[in-house]
Amino acid sequence: MTADTVQIEVQQTTQSRLQEVDFDNLVFGRNISDHMFIAEYKNGQWQDLRIVPYGDLSLSPATAALHYGQAIFEGMKAYKNEAGEVLLFRAIDNWKRLNKSAERLCMPQIPEDVFMNGLTELLRLDAGWVPSQPGCSLYIRPYMFATDPYIGVKASDSYYFIIFTSPVGTYYAKPPRVKVEQHFIRAAEGGVGATKCAGNYAGSLYPAKLAQQEGYDQLIWTDARDHAYIEESGTMNIMFMLDGKLLTPHVSETTLDGITRKSIVAIAEHWGIPVEERRISVAEIIDALKAGKLEAAFGAGTAVVISPFATIAYEGVDYPLPEIKEDSFVNKVKNYLTDLRTGKQEDIFGWMLKV
Ligand code: COI
Repeated sequence: MTADTVQIEVQQTTQSRLQEVDFDNLVFGRNISDHMFIAEYKNGQWQDLRIVPYGDLSLSPATAALHYGQAIFEGMKAYKNEAGEVLLFRAIDNWKRLNKSAERLCMPQIPEDVFMNGLTELLRLDAGWVPSQPGCSLYIRPYMFATDPYIGVKASDSYYFIIFTSPVGTYYAKPPRVKVEQHFIRAAEGGVGATKCAGNYAGSLYPAKLAQQEGYDQLIWTDARDHAYIEESGTMNIMFMLDGKLLTPHVSETTLDGITRKSIVAIAEHWGIPVEERRISVAEIIDALKAGKLEAAFGAGTAVVISPFATIAYEGVDYPLPEIKEDSFVNKVKNYLTDLRTGKQEDIFGWMLKV
């Protein structure tokens, strides 16, 4: 399918819900924009590309994704510049990652033009939903799931690919308190930890619930074999500032190749800050905490952007982290990303796309 052959039928809503949204008090994930993009995979082809009013789907109770979990998604964001134009951040990287997840879960590849044309058409139609309030953005949720009405265990022959969007504010109301998980795991070598498949998130809910009952907001995931190495935190990649260096676990079979993560790494390298992408042991971080040397620990992801931790808990001890200073790397990189995404900073990396 080439760009010339991507035909998208557009059915506009007659009842916009835009006026019902309180843009000054946006809560993550609560408001969904007026339209959604849908493509259906049938007979080996993506077809019936359409933009329709956001609404319910009608699905068979035997829908394969509901039983065996062939379901993958992405999270990305759009922003407004001062002229009111809509800017997309690193959308091509999300498209590539979705296709990597698709490959691992035996799902079809999505052609670039289906993804990008569907996305840009949708954003043009719902441009009014992109917030311009500081700290806010339009969260974009592309996802694909298996639709065969069949409960034999096999890769489905049919799929839906959908994109809908949601104006959002900040993800965490306050810096999260995170606990190093020493029993449950998020991912194991040879598994699906590097993909954004729905099951990874389902499996994280129970350990996160237990941590919440103990007064923590999220977990730090460790390796499946020894719980000795740090992998991710909650739904985010994890990063540390130690001895003036940016440390982050290297991307592997068990960690997500996060787009915010790799953007922070690229910016740090551009600023001449030493970056180490490697195995990071729990012991190294706990020793640094005990010695009062850990400058910062933070989660990085599309939803949170950068989320500095208030506390790291390990073996029943809470280690508080210092407050983030105005001139710290964490603060500077956060502001730089915001300025880049809202067009106030020159796009030297070529990450932004005007819709
Ligand atoms: C993201 O930050 O991109 C995520 O995937 C988090 C989402 C599950 C809310």
